[in-house]
Amino acid sequence: MENKTFKALVVEEPDKNVFIRKVKDITINSLPAGDVIVRVKYSSLNYKDALSATGNKSVTRTYPHTPGVDAAGVVEESAEGGFVPGDQVIVTSYDLGMNTSGGFGQYIRVPAGWVVKLPSGLTLKESMIFGTAGFTAGMSVHRLTAYVKPEQGVILVTGATGGVGSIAVGILSRLGYSVTAVSGKSDAEGLLKKLGAGEIISRKEFTENSNRPLLKVRWAGAIDTVGGEILATAIKSTGPLGVVTCCGNVASPELPINVFPFILRGVSLIGIDSQNCPMALRKEIWTKLADIWKPDMLEDLYDEISLGELDNKIAAILKGQLKGRTLVNLDR
Ligand SMILES: NC(=O)c1ccc[n+]([C@@H]2O[C@H](COP(=O)([O-])OP(=O)(O)OC[C@H]3O[C@@H](n4cnc5c(N)ncnc54)[C@H](OP(=O)(O)O)[C@@H]3O)[C@@H](O)[C@H]2O)c1
Repeated sequence: MENKTFKALVVEEPDKNVFIRKVKDITINSLPAGDVIVRVKYSSLNYKDALSATGNKSVTRTYPHTPGVDAAGVVEESAEGGFVPGDQVIVTSYDLGMNTSGGFGQYIRVPAGWVVKLPSGLTLKESMIFGTAGFTAGMSVHRLTAYVKPEQGVILVTGATGGVGSIAVGILSRLGYSVTAVSGKSDAEGLLKKLGAGEIISRKEFTENSNRPLLKVRWAGAIDTVGGEILATAIKSTGPLGVVTCCGNVASPELPINVFPFILRGVSLIGIDSQNCPMALRKEIWTKLADIWKPDMLEDLYDEISLGELDNKIAAILKGQLKGRTLVNLDR
C-alpha cells in the first residue's frame, strides 16, 4: 500500500516526564509491522487510553505514541488471516494503543490474530459504543451468570455510570436480573433507571459502617469496576456461594479484606482480564453483544466526538466525571 498520510492523536514527551498531545499528520510507513491494515472509522475512550495519553509508563513505555485500545473499521490490506479488503472488523485489546499505535489514528497495522470480523447485528459504530469497556462488561456478565441466576437475588454493580458499569447494568437488566447500582454522581439516577437499575446507592452511603469482617447479606453477586473499599464492601455483603467479579482500580488497587467472606460464605472472587481473553471466548462475547446482550438504550449511552475533542474528555475520565461511553469518530 502506498505511504498515505493520515490524522492521528500523537502524544509526545519533549522533556523527561513532560507530555503533550496534538492531532498530527503521520504516515502508514510509521506504523509497526503487521498483517492487516485497517482504515479506522470509530474508536472510543477508555480509562487506559487516558493513562497512555498522560504519560503513564506502566501502560505506554515510549513516546511519541498514538493511544486508543479500541478500533473498528474496514480492512484496506491483509497479508494473511482470512481477511480481505472491505471486511468490517473490530480490533481491541492485546497491545493495541499501549505500545502499538492505536485507534486514535485513521489507520492501524496489526497482527491478524488481533482482528475480529464484525458480527452480524452490530454496526461499526455500535461496536465502539461498547468498545473495551462494553466487552469487559460482557466478560464480567459471562463469568457471573455462569454461577448466579436471576432468581437467586439482586446483583450489585459499582462505578455504575462508567463505561463498564453502565453497560453491565444494561446487559444484566436485559437478561432479567434485578440490579442495584452504586454511583458517586448525584445526577446518576435518570441514566441508571433507564438502563434498568432498580435501586441506586450513593458511593458514600455504600461504604459507611462497612469495616466489619462480614456485613448483612444483600446481593447474590456483584460486578465491581473500581476496587478498594467498595470492592471489599461488595464481597462482605454478598450471600452464600455468591460471585463477585473484579476488573478495575479507579478507586484503589488495594483490597482491604480478610478471608471470612470466602471461608464462611463460600463467596468467589473472579478476576476479569479482557486484554488476554482467548479468541474463541472473545468471538462468543462479541456475538452476544451484537444480539441477546445488546442493551435497548445503547444509542443513549454515548457522546460522539472528533480526535480534536479528545483532550477535554481525557481530563474528565481521569477525574471519574464521564457518564457512559465516549465514541471517537475518525472521519469527523
Ligand atoms: N480488567 C480489564 O480487562 C479492564 C477492561 C476495561 C476497563 N478496566 C478497568 O475498569 C475500570 C473502569 O473502567 P471504565 O471504562 O468503566 O472507566 P470509567 O468510564 O472512567 O468509569 C469508572 C467509574 O468509576 C466510578 N469512579 C470514578 N472514580 C472513583 C473513585 N475514586 N472511587 C469510586 N468510584 C469511582 C465512576 O462512576 P460513578 O460516578 O457512577 O461511581 C466512574 O464513572 C478502570 O479501572 C479500567 O482501567 C479493566
